[in-house]
Amino acid sequence: MFVLGINGSPRRKGNSHYLMSLFIKEMRARGYDDIQVLNAAKLTINPCIGCGNCETKGVCIFEDDFTNIFLPAMIKADIIVISSPVYFYAFPAALKALIDRIQVLWSRKYRLKMDEFKDRKRKGVLLASGATHGKDLFDGLKLTARYFFDAADIKYETQLCYRGMDEKGEMRNHPGVHEDISSLVRRL
Ligand SMILES: Cc1cc2nc3c(=O)[nH]c(=O)nc-3n(C[C@H](O)[C@H](O)[C@H](O)COP(=O)(O)O)c2cc1C
Repeated sequence: MFVLGINGSPRRKGNSHYLMSLFIKEMRARGYDDIQVLNAAKLTINPCIGCGNCETKGVCIFEDDFTNIFLPAMIKADIIVISSPVYFYAFPAALKALIDRIQVLWSRKYRLKMDEFKDRKRKGVLLASGATHGKDLFDGLKLTARYFFDAADIKYETQLCYRGMDEKGEMRNHPGVHEDISSLVRRL
């Protein structure tokens, strides 16, 4: 069982990093030790240019960290967890660039009718934090996560979203976060 963590925050050791570390710790405690965490901001990713190559040939024209590191990990993963802040009601740019490049899996699935994840039961989870409190704060992330996971034949299981988290490290003082993550991992 291979677990892939995708960290969307460019901020070092911030709230997303903390949420991811709790999630990974819980997975390890449950015996999952084949785990890789990738930081979107540390990868070199060409933004999708909508050339359509993947729609006819099933492959991307670019060769970069998406094709060499991210895509192979996505294909191998059984559990995928995204941990991200809200940036202007969306995912931060580096993570969004990775998500857009998943168009290659969307094309293989919907245009080329490839069934490459047949008999695999892949699961996806979103962890998120944002500074404000509005009820729509996480709508953008949840919608994008839904269609990202769908393109990669991953069942979007659930999300944990934390409002009012702004300062670096503020997540650490959240009273319920340990129990939230532990019960989420139990349910996976
Ligand atoms: C460029 C930028 C845009 C942001 N946009 C929003 C926003 O639209 N809504 C919000 O509530 N918080 C926003 N925030 C605050 C972050 O979502 C919040 O501080 C989050 O907890 C940071 O997580 P991190 O420590 O993992 O980076 C923004 C922060 C930055 C730097």
